[in-house]
Amino acid sequence: MAMVILQLPTVQRGSHFQPLSWNLRMKVALGAAKGLAYLHSAEAKVIYRDFKTSNILLDTDYTAKLSDFGLAKDGPVGEKSHVSTRVMGTYGYAAPEYLSTGHLTAKSDIYSFGVVLLEMLSGRRAIDKNRPQGEHNLVEWARPYLTHKRKIFRVLDTRLEGQYSLSGAQTIAALAVECLNFEAKTRPSMDAVVSILEGIQDSSEARKPAAERHQDPKGAGKKMTSASVGRDSDKPRRKSSNDLRKEAGRDPKPSVLHST
Ligand SMILES: Nc1ncnc2c1ncn2[C@@H]1O[C@H](COP(=O)(O)OP(=O)(O)OP(=O)(O)O)[C@@H](O)[C@H]1O
Ligand SMILES: [Mg+2]
Repeated sequence: MAMVILQLPTVQRGSHFQPLSWNLRMKVALGAAKGLAYLHSAEAKVIYRDFKTSNILLDTDYTAKLSDFGLAKDGPVGEKSHVSTRVMGTYGYAAPEYLSTGHLTAKSDIYSFGVVLLEMLSGRRAIDKNRPQGEHNLVEWARPYLTHKRKIFRVLDTRLEGQYSLSGAQTIAALAVECLNFEAKTRPSMDAVVSILEGIQDSSEARKPAAERHQDPKGAGKKMTSASVGRDSDKPRRKSSNDLRKEAGRDPKPSVLHST
């Protein structure tokens, strides 16, 4: 069954690649945020641990669904603030405190969400070795620009020109900064992230012509199967704790750990 594969900055529909518009990026971000918020809720109490763009699957109407729960972990119970685990995840998305201590909390997922938000904003991948030196790691490269009103233009995907309002882009940049905070406790909750993204969605809905606003997208509500699995040879590889530590040791300024 047909589905869309998220391969930022494009999406792949069958064999066609097309750039993902600002509104669709925001829709996907909100859908994925709602998925994470559910996992973090008191009802589920799960830490996803491998949040990244390739694990966000899109239905033909761009409804986001989270996949690959292989690393998901039950959250801490009782008085405990974290779960201790072997460090697993994907380089470029894993939270710095999780990489250095193995202490896993829901806030580790929030950090990964911030990385994905940054991918949506910039159209760049979390790790891209084809970029010039100093730009391989998206968070490390983008962080200094995100807090300056005018400098965020250096981060914004040029393919999006004219599609977003400045305040919308600034809100997303500020949200990404909060999610990527080195201090895990000060990162927002997933519920707070959802509210902010809903606000963005509402304001972009309000700018659309009425006819477009009420369109029922083709394929809405269809269920996804695993029959149409796409492969992505350029994806960031999932790494074991040994891989991650080896990389951190080799690089005197490991990207995720010491970006400023
Ligand atoms: N059910 C599916 N339908 C369509 N595409 C899928 C499906 N499952 C995965 N994909 C796509 O296939 C590609 C590879 O996914 P896969 O899960 O094997 O690796 P990954 O997500 O990059 O890493 P990880 O193994 O950590 O999840 C990704 O682009 C993903 O979006
Ligand atoms: Mg996957």
